[in-house]
Amino acid sequence: MPAALSRRQFALSCAAVLGARKGLSFATREVHVGLDPNLEVGLIQPELHGQFAEHLGTCIYGGLWVGKNSRVPNIRGYRQAAIEYLRGLVPVLRWPGGCFADDYHWRDGIGPAEKRPRTVNSHWGNYVEDNSFGTHEFVELCRLIGAEPYITGNVGSGTPQELRDWMEYCNYPSGSSLSDERAHNGSAQPFGVKYWAVGNENWGCGGQMTPEEYAHDYRRFTTYLRGFGDTKPFLIACGPSGNDTHWSRGFFDSMRRLNQVNGFAMHYYSRGLDNATRFTAEHVREQLGSFAAIEKAVVQQRALMDGYDPQRKIGLLIDEWGVWDRISPEEEKRYGRLWQQITMRSAVAAALGLNLFQRQADKLVMGNLAQMVNVLHAVLLTDEEHCVRTPTYYVFEQMKPHRGKTEIHTENPDSASPEGLSISASRKENELVITCVNPQLDQALKVTCLLGAAKAAGARGRILHDPDFNACNTFARPDRVVPKDLPVEAGGSRVALELPPLSVATATVRLE
Ligand code: AHR
Repeated sequence: MPAALSRRQFALSCAAVLGARKGLSFATREVHVGLDPNLEVGLIQPELHGQFAEHLGTCIYGGLWVGKNSRVPNIRGYRQAAIEYLRGLVPVLRWPGGCFADDYHWRDGIGPAEKRPRTVNSHWGNYVEDNSFGTHEFVELCRLIGAEPYITGNVGSGTPQELRDWMEYCNYPSGSSLSDERAHNGSAQPFGVKYWAVGNENWGCGGQMTPEEYAHDYRRFTTYLRGFGDTKPFLIACGPSGNDTHWSRGFFDSMRRLNQVNGFAMHYYSRGLDNATRFTAEHVREQLGSFAAIEKAVVQQRALMDGYDPQRKIGLLIDEWGVWDRISPEEEKRYGRLWQQITMRSAVAAALGLNLFQRQADKLVMGNLAQMVNVLHAVLLTDEEHCVRTPTYYVFEQMKPHRGKTEIHTENPDSASPEGLSISASRKENELVITCVNPQLDQALKVTCLLGAAKAAGARGRILHDPDFNACNTFARPDRVVPKDLPVEAGGSRVALELPPLSVATATVRLE
């Protein structure tokens, strides 16, 4: 039992206190959570709130990149509204894929736009792309929104030389042919790209390899990725699909020198059983329940890695995650491949994901939501000149204050149940940030956080909530689901807040 929680309080927290709230048709249950601001779990790397953008559907072309001559308001070809919404929200951005990455040849995307080849995107619909969005455009996008660039290299159909040349082109200061070519193409300054993945899903679209075959290629490729210039590359190996321990073991057993690996990236999607706006209560429960499995996977994959890397020099990433609902062919036709609407339920899913990443802050170094615009679990949806912030956008915005703080231990009596309260709390100096998620559809929660010896001097709160789990922000009604202020009681050693069913609340507490 945590120091912050007395025996009586703990017993009370375990018992469901049911009582109908006046005027509302759902019951309210009280939950008492012990927080120990001095019991540290680990630093919440800002990269846990990362994003992913692939050449897929209208994520890049038509979404983020509209071209300089577009009638959509733009900044040198980037959709202006997207830049404004994303600025400061995205700590790290992974590009160009996804499956696309292992069929992408970076030289196609440099030099004068009109001279770039027209290539076929064979993974995502065989459409022809003009390569007007390439490495320079990606790095400039990152600079415009304040994100750290993360490049996924081509292993499946590429060569070690192609990838090492890309790194030299990006990072070598000057004087080599490749760095001079970069300067000639507009950037005398090196790009300083730190994060490099060596392939994507190489157990599938990245070459259908066995873990042993991939480890063999990984060893070859990374031998030549030594770093060019001042930026020491952080080299990321392809990890498992979900909690596939066979892949992870096979890879690490086949690696002779672990110092060639800085990161190991798993992918974990939460499938939806219907089109996003047609979920039933059962579909919601089914999908939201997957986040308990993701947390278990993080713990188990990290434990497996600890067997090879007890000092945790290799970081675990989830560089693709999010809800993947049943895609409607009509919507895909209209808005692009893997387009889906984002609802209040999707936002709760996003918050469950971020909460679990933060609780496991000692085990995870990065998480990238798939994908940032118009594809799968998007934070922005666009159509011609329209650009809408989805409910998930607001979850990322609301949880931003956690970044760079230290996750602290929480004693949550609901933690064993995927349908119970989800909480994460972080602290830096005298600021404590708490995010609570109520994933239940028919029960409100009154959450009381007991701070032990720490004292609260005041708090402010924000909440994202809609009683309809299929509620969304459409192009016609872009502000249906937006955050609001939430009253938070804070005094002495307690902080209390109320969460209606299906809500995400963040309290920022000043400690004495
Ligand atoms: O995010 C969509 C696709 O899902 C990615 O291209 C691939 O890596 C994954 O299977």
